[in-house]
Amino acid sequence: MFRRLRTIRARHWIHLVSLAGVAFAATGCHIDMWYQSKKVAQDENEFFRDGKADRLPVAGTVARGELRHDDAFFTGRVDGKLITDLPARVEVSKELLERGKERYTIFCSHCHGAAGDGKGMIAQRGLSLRRPPASFHTDRLREMPLGHFYEVISNGFGVMYQQGTRIDSGVGAEKGKMDRWAIVAYIRALQLSQYYDASGLSAEEQEKLGIPAPEQIEWKNAFTEAQKKAAGSKPEEGGH
Ligand code: HEC
Repeated sequence: MFRRLRTIRARHWIHLVSLAGVAFAATGCHIDMWYQSKKVAQDENEFFRDGKADRLPVAGTVARGELRHDDAFFTGRVDGKLITDLPARVEVSKELLERGKERYTIFCSHCHGAAGDGKGMIAQRGLSLRRPPASFHTDRLREMPLGHFYEVISNGFGVMYQQGTRIDSGVGAEKGKMDRWAIVAYIRALQLSQYYDASGLSAEEQEKLGIPAPEQIEWKNAFTEAQKKAAGSKPEEGGH
């Protein structure tokens, strides 16, 4: 009885193993799926009239998650006019500025400098362009609507190439990615850091920043005036 069972089992196994062998031979040896003929980005393709393999999105369609219905956010303009403030959906926060600082350091600081004064390492040591990288601390750029900075990052400006292909525009902003605006916010913070009207701060805050108190300034001015007068009233010594 037992012996019979064993012989059945042995036969069973032989069948199974040979079946697996056939299955392996039928599938495993074929690599056509691996090396299938296909077109990769920038390939030629005679099938289409323009000879390109890449296809543009079909006119009038929007890919899922790519809807750009917020002009201020996606272009920096509303009705053709640059927006002066951040778009409504960008909230200024410590995280936004930190992200902006990080992205600015990676993508802009080598030309524009860590302080935004246009004195990055590349500008100082290697880059020779018709015009040097701009300093953000000019009156013109200090007063510039924020939309302009978004536009410069997205499209470039003069001899500066666009950065739009590397820096997230905010597609998928729902997930918190809005790197161009984060950089814009950080640039404005840099501008304020170098040119802030400190008269609005309390005396204590001003002292912390090392800003002399008004009476100190008056006193200093009076002192230099007195010095000048004293120097002026001195008899000329030999002349030069
Ligand atoms: C390879 C060097 C380089 C890099 C990197 C670079 N810039 Fe510039 N940028 C320039 C130069 C050069 C100019 C001056 C262009 C001109 O006047 O023709 C400029 C000009 C500007 C201006 C002034 C535009 C105006 O109205 O005068 C802004 C704003 C600006 N860049 C922002 C940025 C930001 C933000 C980044 C990073 C995302 C960046 N740039 C990265 C070289 C660079």
